[in-house]
This record gives sequence, structure tokens and C-alpha cells, in this order.
Amino acid sequence: MGSAPRRWWRGEEANCGAAESRMGGGAVGAIQSSTKGVVFFFLVLLVLVAVISRRWMDDSTFSMISSWREQAPRLQHSHQPQPKPVTLTCPNHTTTPLHYCRRTITPSPSSSPSAPATSGTEPPPSCPDYFRWIHEDLRPWNSTGITRKMLESARQFAAFRLLVIGGRVYVDQYHRVFQTRDLFTLWGFVQLANRYPGRLPDLDLMFNCEDMPTVKADDYNTSHPPPPLFRYCKDDSTVDIVFPDWSFWGWPEINVKPWEVLREEMKEANDRMAWEKRKPYAFWKGNPTVSGHRKDLMRCNSSNGHDWNARVYAQDWVKEIENGFKDSNLAEQCIYRYKIFVEGRAWSVSSKYILACDSPALFVTTHFHDFMTRGLMPGRHYWPIREDNQCRSIKFAVDWGNKHQEKVQAMGKEGSSFILEEVKMEFVYQYMLHLLTEYAKLLRYEPTLPENATELCLESVACGEEGRVREFLMEAMVKWTCDSEPCTLPPPYSAGELEQLRSRKADAIKQVEEWKQEAWEEEH
Ligand SMILES: *[C@@H]1O[C@H](CO)[C@@H](O)[C@H](O)[C@H]1NC(C)=O
Ligand SMILES: *[C@@H]1O[C@H](CO)[C@@H](O)[C@H](O)[C@H]1NC(C)=O
Ligand SMILES: *[C@@H]1O[C@H](CO)[C@@H](O)[C@H](O)[C@H]1NC(C)=O
Ligand SMILES: *[C@@H]1O[C@H](CO)[C@@H](O)[C@H](O)[C@H]1NC(C)=O
Ligand SMILES: *[C@@H]1O[C@H](CO)[C@@H](O)[C@H](O)[C@H]1NC(C)=O
Repeated sequence: MGSAPRRWWRGEEANCGAAESRMGGGAVGAIQSSTKGVVFFFLVLLVLVAVISRRWMDDSTFSMISSWREQAPRLQHSHQPQPKPVTLTCPNHTTTPLHYCRRTITPSPSSSPSAPATSGTEPPPSCPDYFRWIHEDLRPWNSTGITRKMLESARQFAAFRLLVIGGRVYVDQYHRVFQTRDLFTLWGFVQLANRYPGRLPDLDLMFNCEDMPTVKADDYNTSHPPPPLFRYCKDDSTVDIVFPDWSFWGWPEINVKPWEVLREEMKEANDRMAWEKRKPYAFWKGNPTVSGHRKDLMRCNSSNGHDWNARVYAQDWVKEIENGFKDSNLAEQCIYRYKIFVEGRAWSVSSKYILACDSPALFVTTHFHDFMTRGLMPGRHYWPIREDNQCRSIKFAVDWGNKHQEKVQAMGKEGSSFILEEVKMEFVYQYMLHLLTEYAKLLRYEPTLPENATELCLESVACGEEGRVREFLMEAMVKWTCDSEPCTLPPPYSAGELEQLRSRKADAIKQVEEWKQEAWEEEH
């Protein structure tokens, strides 16, 4: 730590990420000569198949035609297995749903991500640092393990129970949740299983889809371990296990596209407008009603008589839905030099879109973490803003930044390269794989199917959906299996390292306060 950041992601790209990262469109012409032959071969094959089987032309049949246009994953050395395409075929209305989930699973060569790499090959590079928190999240059960009884004690909090048995994924849904959070979360599990066929260990977990973390660390100890409960965020007083939220696969109700697609759009938006050309203010737009700090932020708007260098807008979702989301395009919000992040009821899915702009993110003091925001360091990835004095803190940040443009541009780049490179979908899936693999090691029993569990697969989730939900599900679908080893899970933090991390964060926040104090004294 403390040394220059390792640019490990600049190395050889895992072969399976290559195809997916081109989903964002505009890549049709990007076929490299080395793979042209393969693509041509596939196209010929496609035509043949289409001629032989009229079913391919049936409009209720979802073939993967769209993905043929994408570049096939880079060719492997001949001794390595080839990535296989993943396809979704919805039965038409006269076919009964009994045909769902019939696909056979051909396991990848190694059965666990911690299996030793094949001899003679380099071990895969280390995962991003935020993966180290996997060990922290699972620490409450490190000495006790997880028994069936403990798991079932979490049922009362869960929206669904998810199981993997013999590589197949099952769900026992207890209740539906707000909008389509659960649907898109389950879709994420299906994509993970398809990306790494047969590699998920048998497991059994409970998932809560609400905002607020609930499992209080203080209520438990090693002789009375907490119920293991997965959810999207936690804070320092809770021991919920954090998992990527639904928005990585899409949030259709407010037209937030899957992250893979949006990530590409945001990169393009950054290229369109250089930082210097952006408006020299701090921008925020969102729903101010969900938290007190957001309401406070509204007072920093220039329309309130004093210019705090903030330009903040209340999002009216009802109006946005009516006008087809014309004014809420996230990529088009990268036209300000500074972007404000303020939590909602708990963590906010917006952090990734705010960080992705190449404009330094001004983070109003955060209280919640999701799986990846724990990798952020104030002063490096973002500028800390005091929650009890937002307007003045924002004004100071913008004034300081406009005077120290190189420094804040570097911060903007650090923030966006963290989110765009270290948190691309490839790593989101690897995080999920490592977390679930480590979690499964803690289980002290063999998972068995509960009475009402049903199998989960592409068809069972997607075929009944339509409109924007269906569209986003398709866009977020994993189109190829991944046969390369995931990144290597870094070791747990030692107590000393955790302490060092905390004090580095505190120091960076203190530094900004000192600068602010000095500037304030100069003015008076
Ligand atoms: C549905 O599938 C059945 C059996 O494959 C076929 O006979 C029928 O024509 C199909 N219906 C439609 C509307 O495509
Ligand atoms: C869990 O316990 C094992 C020893 O049983 C230890 O090696 C490991 O570091 C522990 N993990 C954490 C996160 O403390
Ligand atoms: C652990 O927690 C339980 C329930 O809160 C409590 O009854 C017990 O005394 C605690 N044990 C220890 C060793 O702290
Ligand atoms: C902030 O000010 C702008 C004009 O500068 C205005 O359009 C906008 O609605 C204001 N935002 C709020 C939340 O009042
Ligand atoms: C399974 O579902 C049935 C019908 O909804 C219900 O009566 C039963 O209690 C459920 N079984 C379990 C174990 O939850």
C-alpha cells in the first residue's frame, strides 16, 4: 500500500472479457484480422443453420443472432478449451414451460477458482484490492462455519433463497420486492453460472433486496453467530454480506441500462468533451426526497441567492417517464467539471455513474459501502465533502480545483479508471465467483433442495418478460462461457493493514479540512 497503483489491468485481457466488452455498440466494424476468419466461418455456419432450420426465423425464438455480429473471443492456444456461445431460446406459446432449464452443463476444466493453474502457465494476476473485503464480510463465520440452522435463521429477512447444486441454480422465492430488483439480481446469478459453467460450488444462501443493512454486529458473537444474509450494502455496525446490486444488469423502471452498455457510453461521453471545456461547477441530479443530506444539498443551488458553485437538480421521475427519459441520460451528465455524490436512503447505485465521468467526484460523507466502494480512497479517487457543511465544502472544492486543474483532473481520472476498469463486468463476475466460492467453504452441511425451489436459467427468467425489461435482460446477457482462470483472490487484510487503511482515509479527509481552514482564514 502507499506505493504507486499497480496497473495490472493493462496486462493481457482475460480472453472472455474481450467479447463482452464490445456489447456497447459501435464495435461491429472492429473485427480484427486475426479473428476475421473465425467470424466468417461462423457466419457461413449461421446461414447454413438458418437454411436447414426454419425455426431460426421464428420471431418468438431468441437466437443469438445479435452476438454473431460481435467479435468472437480471442483464439486460445490449441490445448486450451474454447469459449462456447451461450444461447437463449424461448419456447413459443404452444410449447409448455416444461422445456425450461434443460440445458446440460459441461463443467469448465477446473472446478474451483482456487484450483491450481495448469502447469506451465503463469498464475492469473491479482484481483483488485476491493476483493480483499470478501474475507472481512465472511469473517463472522470464520471459526464457526455456517450450519443449516444458522442459514435458516436468516429466512425471516430474505426475499429469496438461492441454491447451487451440481452446477444448477435454484431459487425459492419468498416474496416479490420493489420494482424488478429481485429479477435483475437473479439474472446476475444466472449469468454468473453461464459464464463459469460447472464452476460454482454447491451452496445455499439467503438474499434480502431492501436498502438498509439489518444484521447488527453487536447482537452477535462467536457463540451466537449472526444469520448469514446477502444484500447490496452494509455499514460499519452491520455484518450483512454485500453483493453487487441489480443495476449492474439494469434498472428498467428508470431507464438505467446495464453497466456493460452504460460503461461504453460513458467512455464515449468522456472522449466527446475534454475536462477543460466542461462547465466549472459541481453538478448533481437525482431524487432529493430520500435523505436529509440530499435535501440539504438542494440549498447549495445558485438559485438561492449565493453562488456555492453547485448546480443541483431535482429529478422528477414521473415527468421523466412521461417524456421518455430525455433529460436523464447519465452519459450526457459528463459536461460539468465536478460531480457530487450523496447517498440516498442507504448506499446509492449512482456512485458508479458519477465516478465514471473523468470529473472529480465530490463525495458527501458516506456511511454505507457496497461491494466495490470500499476500494475508494479519499484524496485519490474522490474529494471528501463534509456532510454538516455541504455548501461551503463544495464551494471550496470547486475553487481549489479550478486553481489546481492538473491535480483535480488526475483525481477525476483515478476515479473513472477505478470504476471503468477495476469494476467492469468481468471483475463483477469474478468478485461474485470468489465471494460465493469462499462462502461455500463455510457451509457445514450439504445443501438440499427445499420443497418449493425451482430451477433458474435464462429461459425461466427472461421468456415471460417483455418491453424494456426484456431488452435490458438481453443486453446484460453473458454471450460466451469463460474458460480462463479468474484473477487471484488477494489475502485478507491484517489488523494492522486495516488500521493503516482507516488512518489513511482519515488523514486525507483532515488534509482537505486544513486547506479549507487556511483558505477561510485568508479570506477573513
Ligand atoms: C409453436 O411451436 C410449434 C411446435 O414447434 C409449431 O407447430 C407452431 O407452429 C409454433 N407456433 C408459432 C406461433 O410459431
Ligand atoms: C480464518 O481462519 C483461518 C484459520 O482457521 C485463517 O487462516 C484465516 O486467515 C481466517 N480468515 C480471516 C478473514 O480472518
Ligand atoms: C453471546 O451473545 C449471546 C446473545 O446475545 C449472549 O447471551 C452471550 O452471553 C454472548 N456470549 C459471549 C461470550 O459474549
Ligand atoms: C438550481 O438552479 C437552477 C438554475 O440555476 C434551476 O434550473 C434548478 O431547478 C435549481 N434546482 C433546484 C433543486 O431548485
Ligand atoms: C411450499 O408452497 C406451499 C404452497 O404455497 C406452501 O403451503 C408450503 O408451506 C411451502 N413449503 C415450504 C417449506 O415453505
